[in-house]
Amino acid sequence: MRQLGYQAVDHVVARWKGLEGDRPWQGASRADMEALLHLDAPEEGTDPGELMEEAVAQIFPYAGRIDHPRFLGFVPSSPGWPAVLADILISGHNCFQGTWLESAGPSQVELTVLEWFREWIGMPAGGGGVLTSGGSAANLLAVVTAREEAGWPRRPVVYVSDQGHSSLRRGARIAGFRPDEIRVLPTGADRKLQPGEVARALARDRDQGHTPVMVCANGGATNTGTVDPLGELAQLCREEGVWFHVDAAYGGFAVLTPEGRQVLEGLGQADSVTLDPHKWLFQSYECGCLMVRDPVKLESAFHISAEYLQDTALRDGQVNFGDRGIQLTRSFRALKVWLTVRTVGRQALEDAVGQGMTLARQAGARIQEEEELELLHPPALGVVCFRYRPGGGSRDEGALEELNARIQDRLLEAGDAMMSSTRLAGRYSLRFCILNHRTRWADLDHILDRVLAEGRALVAESEAS
Ligand SMILES: Cc1ncc(COP(=O)(O)O)c(C=O)c1O
Repeated sequence: MRQLGYQAVDHVVARWKGLEGDRPWQGASRADMEALLHLDAPEEGTDPGELMEEAVAQIFPYAGRIDHPRFLGFVPSSPGWPAVLADILISGHNCFQGTWLESAGPSQVELTVLEWFREWIGMPAGGGGVLTSGGSAANLLAVVTAREEAGWPRRPVVYVSDQGHSSLRRGARIAGFRPDEIRVLPTGADRKLQPGEVARALARDRDQGHTPVMVCANGGATNTGTVDPLGELAQLCREEGVWFHVDAAYGGFAVLTPEGRQVLEGLGQADSVTLDPHKWLFQSYECGCLMVRDPVKLESAFHISAEYLQDTALRDGQVNFGDRGIQLTRSFRALKVWLTVRTVGRQALEDAVGQGMTLARQAGARIQEEEELELLHPPALGVVCFRYRPGGGSRDEGALEELNARIQDRLLEAGDAMMSSTRLAGRYSLRFCILNHRTRWADLDHILDRVLAEGRALVAESEAS
């Protein structure tokens, strides 16, 4: 057992040490993967040491290295070593963390970690929550809790921003909201929800016999990093008696820094907040979180008694985390966060998050200096949206889109960088999401050099043909 354990650890260490010299992404066709990896379930066993070698040689190479310093697509994740070590301990101990009866110690650690988060986001004392598989699960729990709190009205409506994450709409759909009960509100030119518009939408719906149940704002929109005016929206929702949820899955841990606390002002006034420690708190998958101002509301939404669980009845302040969400069987995710924060300390986390924001600003400054690059949105919480735009001759949006998509492909093929793209008011945008503690300015500078070089080469090729 020890020898195989060391073998697994050695592989992870070798991967981390070799990461920078490796490509940030390697894809493959289904046919190639089928040929390489499909097999019938074996009747007989094989030496696990050999199988680990096989996995390392044949499976892991065909995956995005989302912890690579030049993997800047979507929302990357770059766990620290304490989180990985905790994963070994978690699966080796396999605690059942659905009830206090079966996991008093782990449940207390989850309460402790949630208390740290509560303080960090500025939620009043008494707030709490639950760790989840990720941000999507947390958003679903928020929608269900809001509807329960509203008393299951007949014609309920949920409001999301047009910059809101898709998991909010999916959560509402799973919770039984029909498409015409999910309002996607337009944002202003700054891509933020406008409290006046939100108020008008609530009034319009009430006039038409609907019951507004919940307003969902962004605490770091996935597209651009934008934060909605949280304080104003919190006040509006309080006055309207509507649940106020902030999806801060990716951006929430910016509160560790003074700048982030300022940008996210008002976050602690929300009724619920989604956080994703597996994004900007350097945790391995899966580790999400829903924080609520009043955990009793979470328990009212999810607790269901069962005869076979009668032994798990609670005494004096104990918590059954199985009553705070959809999972009864839950793993001890809190250990990852606990081991990380205790190993490195809060200050190191602040530094790592702050570094992402500084790098985003630096990238934004260089983009603005370069005549052939266009910043499409001011850098926010580690996200930078931009495109290549050659000087001379007018180019329509279609041509710019094709050009930038080809630049992106070329950087991917060359192994320079994994970026992803998005659309801002219909315009195609390249996008950096800089959350990785391994990313340095040299990485970003190199990628911007390569964007310029490939852009120029593509323009020259099209002019020559
Ligand atoms: C703002 C936001 N909310 C929710 C999610 C979904 O989180 P998860 O992928 O952990 O389910 C994401 C993922 O990128 C996100 O950026």
